[in-house]
Amino acid sequence: MALKPLALSGLALALSASLTAAEVPDLVFHPEIYTVQSAELNGRTIRYRAYEGLVTVKHPVDTRYETLNLFVPVEYFEGKSVGTYSAKSAPILLPNSVGGYMPGPAGRPGPGFGGQPNAALVALSKGLVVAAPGARGRTLTDAQGHYTGKAPAAIVDLKAAVRYLRFNAQRLPAGDTEKIISNGTSAGGALSALLGATGNAPEYEPYLQALGAAETRDDVFAVSAYCPITDLDHADMAYEWLFSDIHTYQGQRFPPMGGPGGPGAPGMAYPGGPDGVPSRPPLMDPAKMPPAPKQSMTATQVRQAAELKRLFPAYLNSLGLKDAQGHPLTLDAKGHGSFEVWIRAQVVASAQRALDQGQDLSKATYLRITRRKVTGIDFPAYLKAIGRMKATSAFDGTDLGTGENSLFGSATLNARHFTAYGQQHDTRGGTLAEAQVIALMNPMAFIGKAEVQVSAHWRIRHGAADRDTASAVPSILALTLQQQGKEVDFSLPWGQGHGGDYDLDELFAWVEKTCR
Ligand code: DHB
Repeated sequence: MALKPLALSGLALALSASLTAAEVPDLVFHPEIYTVQSAELNGRTIRYRAYEGLVTVKHPVDTRYETLNLFVPVEYFEGKSVGTYSAKSAPILLPNSVGGYMPGPAGRPGPGFGGQPNAALVALSKGLVVAAPGARGRTLTDAQGHYTGKAPAAIVDLKAAVRYLRFNAQRLPAGDTEKIISNGTSAGGALSALLGATGNAPEYEPYLQALGAAETRDDVFAVSAYCPITDLDHADMAYEWLFSDIHTYQGQRFPPMGGPGGPGAPGMAYPGGPDGVPSRPPLMDPAKMPPAPKQSMTATQVRQAAELKRLFPAYLNSLGLKDAQGHPLTLDAKGHGSFEVWIRAQVVASAQRALDQGQDLSKATYLRITRRKVTGIDFPAYLKAIGRMKATSAFDGTDLGTGENSLFGSATLNARHFTAYGQQHDTRGGTLAEAQVIALMNPMAFIGKAEVQVSAHWRIRHGAADRDTASAVPSILALTLQQQGKEVDFSLPWGQGHGGDYDLDELFAWVEKTCR
């Protein structure tokens, strides 16, 4: 590229400002339209070309979200390499900004959660190309008041973004579209996993065609998923398998649309979305959250917790999971067995790693530590220490009151059920979402299907102190992938609550190893 980036950036700005979505319906990427931007990272200036607001589909439903921001390190326009990567070989990080299954706008490099540099900025500093996709979410409506971001909108938008990149592979100034690495946290982690588990699945085709997505592949090379809130149709039973003996709860869940304190309610504004549209709620920084009151579950909730717990062993056993040595992981009717032993071993291994790194674990009195070795754990006491965050039902609320109920709404209904149990115990005249739509949000429904291209490389993290979903949920995902021959790096970081992007140096070391 002969043009000097700085010389062009004025022209680029003018062009970019006059370009409307209606004028770029052809999905063709324009390499000449960009700005040069920079951001500080630990005293270092990271410079990159920014191609922002790229509309990823021909017939967008909401151009505030069906867009992509592309960022490319300036070195790649100067014939240089960055670390081990060149313009041609640089992997493409695809970080979504979805939280709470709310709309997530296309992101940009800068400060992230808790003021730390975000994954996009650190990725650029290490020579990755960053393609930050937006995605619709459960609270969006059109001018007629119809919902436009209910399931499966967000995953369809992410797939459309991947297709846009592949469709433009030869026009992109840098980046290897066969090395796309998805990243996300919580609901965004679930979508990241779903993207990796459903490559080219025909079930999404009608939705992609309706949007006018590029007609090409949507599989991705690798997945990074932090605390994925996934396998929603089995998350309640998994939650109660762990927490049913704990009858108090403390924490905030994403407020449902229109509910008390929810988006749209007076005085509630979520930062971050374009045009004042609510996006990721400020849930992710526990340190900055007001302490939630401790509440007691009702007698009905306690009874339903026990009922849901009893449903879990049959589900778990139906998966036919095995550990790395090929031993079956199962549960008896009471919820005990080798799967339980495996989960405990993950927590013990996490504590051991923390100990080996010099962390003080003396307050974790439920651990048995002998000569700097973690030799055992009082698991019920550990669960009590981390506590229960959500009352029963944690996900499919009998009152349709959760964010997940809202995710499974329809064009005209804000919220629906997505489990047989939730529907059977409904207290609000609720209805059940279509089985196909529920499956479209669950990676477990696709892994192992012949016509699906599942990512070969996975990095899954769930904090050992995270109670937003049961650790059994990401564990089941990791074990299923491992059994399918995928490379899976799974752990439960010690002391870590609900959050993501907290170990970016390790994440990008994993990316480099994976791409080598
Ligand atoms: C998120 C957290 C939750 O507890 C949940 O149920 C869904 C999403 C989140 O942080 O994205």
